Amino acid sequence: MIQINENYTKLQASYLFVEIARRVADFQKNNPGKEIIKMGIGDVTKPLPEACLKAFHEGVDELASETTFKGYGPERGYEFLRKAIAEQDYKSRGADISPDDIFISDGAKCDTGNIQELFAKEIRVAIPDPVYPVYVDTNVMAGRTGTATDQRYEGLTYLEGTEENGFVPSPEGVEADLIYLCFPNNPTGATATKEQLKAWVDYARANKALILFDAAYVAFIRNPEIPHTIFEIPGAEEVAVEFRSYSKTAGFTGTRCAYTVIPSACKVWDSTGKEYALKDLWNRRHSTKFNGVSYPVQKAAAAVYSPEGQKQVRDLIDYYLKNAAIILEKMTEAGFSCTGGTNSPYIWVKTGTDSWETFDRILNEAGVVVTPGSGFGRCGEGFIRISAFNSLENVQKAMDRIAAALK
Ligand SMILES: Cc1ncc(COP(=O)(O)O)c(C=O)c1O
Repeated sequence: MIQINENYTKLQASYLFVEIARRVADFQKNNPGKEIIKMGIGDVTKPLPEACLKAFHEGVDELASETTFKGYGPERGYEFLRKAIAEQDYKSRGADISPDDIFISDGAKCDTGNIQELFAKEIRVAIPDPVYPVYVDTNVMAGRTGTATDQRYEGLTYLEGTEENGFVPSPEGVEADLIYLCFPNNPTGATATKEQLKAWVDYARANKALILFDAAYVAFIRNPEIPHTIFEIPGAEEVAVEFRSYSKTAGFTGTRCAYTVIPSACKVWDSTGKEYALKDLWNRRHSTKFNGVSYPVQKAAAAVYSPEGQKQVRDLIDYYLKNAAIILEKMTEAGFSCTGGTNSPYIWVKTGTDSWETFDRILNEAGVVVTPGSGFGRCGEGFIRISAFNSLENVQKAMDRIAAALK
């Protein structure tokens, strides 16, 4: 008899976006022809920057000739891309990251989901609430939790993001070995200051813990005071892993390219106290289970770092940030308290009403899809997340309709 991994049966109902898609499909069936504006799932809408497209085409053309053809590439990624990342994403911010610390992959989703398999089942895991659902679900699948009651899995520590702490939980009173953090945050749009990140780095260093820092939205940071990488914090290289992605930075959600940074100084231990370089363990996993990102895609990603690419990416993000500013302004004008919307593509709106009911009301009355806050955890109840990934015209139209529906 083929038996299943019963941890899968602990997973709660359906994945958030599957449930949203189901409700949207029902709405469409019952309201044929009615226009729907999607501001729910965080998928980008603008095409790839010109510089990336050009490099992508060149990469494909190179595959056409025997002299430039590429077969299996290095699992960790081509050096030309890892060098550009080390120089322009890290050294430029004063973070001493070398190309050897970088692993190119096909997604921050996969990397943030997969990395937990390097750690013992017994470790204590702390995960923010509200949160990008992948961190919780992958720990459930791995058997690190009991069952869920009222949206909380037994065995997990929840780092509550509330209005009081500005949606930036502190390490005070926390007991954990593995800590997930995400800034700019999905779903709240909150960003963390240097002092707030330093508190976590200090905690991890004092407790031999590890921070998994998801910086998928770093490109939206415009305030130079906000740390762009956790490696700006002294000592973070000993206790942190950083995940980044070209998905939101350069419109690669369908193209697929991301990377994970594990500095050489980052150490982990076995049950006898023997020390290991985390980078070596991840390298072993990566080279066993992953074949690398295709050459043309890595060429396209590297073009982000060219002078034209930098300008085009900035323009692209500016476009979404302008949308975010409009959403923030409209929702604030309508009397709602909001977080995010600056330095982030997400606006976290406090409606104070049941999240799924608000979702249904906005869908049915305004024809707009948002994301119910409770889908990101118990602390998200009473909130909705509005995403800036859409056209300016649609954002303006949607905001007028939402404001009217929520009156
Ligand atoms: C916080 C966060 N991390 C990671 C990802 C996934 O990134 P990728 O497209 O590189 O898998 C997302 C996507 O929405 C996200 O919100």
